[in-house]
Amino acid sequence: MIPTLFTKSEEVRGWQQGLPKGSALALVPTMGALHAGHEQLIRKAQSVAPNVAVTIFVNPLQFNDPKDLQEYPRTLKKDIEICRRLGVTAIFAPPVDEMYPSKSNSTVSAGLLGAKYEGEHRPGHFDGVLTIVDRFFALIKPDFAVFGKKDYQQLVLIRQMALARYPMLEIVGVPTVRDPDGLAISSRNIRLSSSDRQLATKLFESLCLIETQFTAGQIDPRQLESVGRDYLSQYPQIIRDYLVCVDSANLAEINSVTNSAILLLAATVGGVRLIDNVLLNG
Ligand code: PAJ
Repeated sequence: MIPTLFTKSEEVRGWQQGLPKGSALALVPTMGALHAGHEQLIRKAQSVAPNVAVTIFVNPLQFNDPKDLQEYPRTLKKDIEICRRLGVTAIFAPPVDEMYPSKSNSTVSAGLLGAKYEGEHRPGHFDGVLTIVDRFFALIKPDFAVFGKKDYQQLVLIRQMALARYPMLEIVGVPTVRDPDGLAISSRNIRLSSSDRQLATKLFESLCLIETQFTAGQIDPRQLESVGRDYLSQYPQIIRDYLVCVDSANLAEINSVTNSAILLLAATVGGVRLIDNVLLNG
């Protein structure tokens, strides 16, 4: 099946309104440059709904570095081909002024949690993410929306927003897809030199090491954090932004891993900023 490609809001709205009554719609928001991680999200969406829409939109509002926005890979033709191969029903790839007409400047705030962890290093990033996701939800009115656990803080913030603003919408989280050596797949990975690509595997290794200590009985989050930090400090070329062990439901600080916790890690390797996480099930 060839997916229908829409670039105008009114077209995608008309398409959604024309779906048979009771025929569920799952949305997969992306910024394009589709890879195996995105493909997994699309497959998950197809398993929960007969109609799957993929948005492809490099959202300027969530980039705090203009160079990063400029350099972000744009591969629409290839993305459409991937969607066709997977049997996606519709693609919505609007131009920037379609989503941000000059008169419309209302934004969604990601609040206090939006300013922590990733937000501390990328001010305004999550406001930008929530603003565009909110606009897609309002326009496309999906029954399900599928996101990767790779961007764990993003997922938590979107869940919180959906609970408040779209109570009928079910947010579905998909486990992180990794390369065989453990590195979480990301569109940024292609920017790594081969030696930095090698080094980047240490990120997931540090999280696995922490997980091993947790399984062996260590439940003090400060101790667990220092196991990972010590491991990474052997590699001075890895510049760690944060490695924290926090509550997996709301990312609040905890003093003991009794229920489930999440290890959140961000670091720069060879000038490329990478994030990863591992869930600890108490
Ligand atoms: P993007 O980086 O294109 O990611 C789109 C979706 O793919 C997100 O839900 C992300 O968590 C998921 N994803 C990326 N890599 C993954 C991997 N290795 N395994 C599993 N899922 C993965 O995230 C965004 O775009 C934007 O912020 C967006 C939500 C589209 C708003 O602009």
